[in-house]
Amino acid sequence: MNDTAIKNQIQSVLKPRGQVLRGKTALITGASSGIGLATAVRLALEGCQLNLVARRKERLNELKAELLNLNPTLSVRTFALDLTAPESIQTLLDAGAFSVDILVNNAGLALGLSHVLNSDPNDWEKMLSTNVNSAFRISQEAAKHMANNGGGDIVVLSSVAAHSAYENGAVYCASKHAVRAFHEALRLETVSQNIRVIMLSPGMVETEFSLVRFKGDFERAQKVYDGVEALDGGDIADTLVYALQLARHINIDELIIKPRQQGNPWKVHRTNP
Ligand SMILES: NC(=O)c1ccc[n+]([C@@H]2O[C@H](COP(=O)([O-])OP(=O)(O)OC[C@H]3O[C@@H](n4cnc5c(N)ncnc54)[C@H](OP(=O)(O)O)[C@@H]3O)[C@@H](O)[C@H]2O)c1
Repeated sequence: MNDTAIKNQIQSVLKPRGQVLRGKTALITGASSGIGLATAVRLALEGCQLNLVARRKERLNELKAELLNLNPTLSVRTFALDLTAPESIQTLLDAGAFSVDILVNNAGLALGLSHVLNSDPNDWEKMLSTNVNSAFRISQEAAKHMANNGGGDIVVLSSVAAHSAYENGAVYCASKHAVRAFHEALRLETVSQNIRVIMLSPGMVETEFSLVRFKGDFERAQKVYDGVEALDGGDIADTLVYALQLARHINIDELIIKPRQQGNPWKVHRTNP
């Protein structure tokens, strides 16, 4: 290889290549807490226009005010909706909330931690209607818009629970397996339409997730993170922004992101057992 060839290769490595997020619009579901909230902050700092969805209206209002403090030029729209209510998708459609460049399909929950034989089918219903039915509809509507408008990016929150089932978490794990399968198929179906489908599959992230799973039992929720430096919402938002900022010819199909101390969902090294 001659000197010019090396120079050319160095130039090619150094040339600006990423996707600029400034001015793009994003729809984030589950923005009132945890990963969704952190993503809203990160995308606001990048200069994205935001549509934020969650049930807790006060939280969304407070978040909007804080985001506008960070960046007064932002446009932030909030939608206080229960995504499992049949009319919620129509409300978002009517407001043009799916007309975005980026979807962060994040709202989801686990309820309960018990054997199939002892668990409550009402909990199953809530997990399946949120994590599966609503999440599928949201990706469908955003993908339709993107297909008709020259492309876009869909980021979906899957989980390590989409890769292996763990005891006491049958339905949550089943719901995340479904999320993963659906978005794998969507990625194949939209491969010619300039749509990126990016799956993030975290392990243990310290958010309100365990508080919700244990229905407000704060002590039990805290024990999940005892002796572990868990991830936080900001860690996931960083990887999400990284994947979005890569040049458009790059699609991160899936990132599995765990704390160093977590080998798999049930193998956790705790420093104060
Ligand atoms: N934390 C973890 O260890 C972990 C690991 C892997 C994957 N995940 C996934 O990451 C995603 C975000 O979880 P997180 O850890 O950030 O939990 P979180 O702090 O509990 O946040 C969940 C968000 O979803 C919203 N939400 C739940 N049900 C909703 C509904 N019916 N309608 C509208 N919004 C709803 C909540 O808002 P409102 O309560 O205000 O509605 C909240 O903003 C979930 O899909 C979860 O399965 C989490």
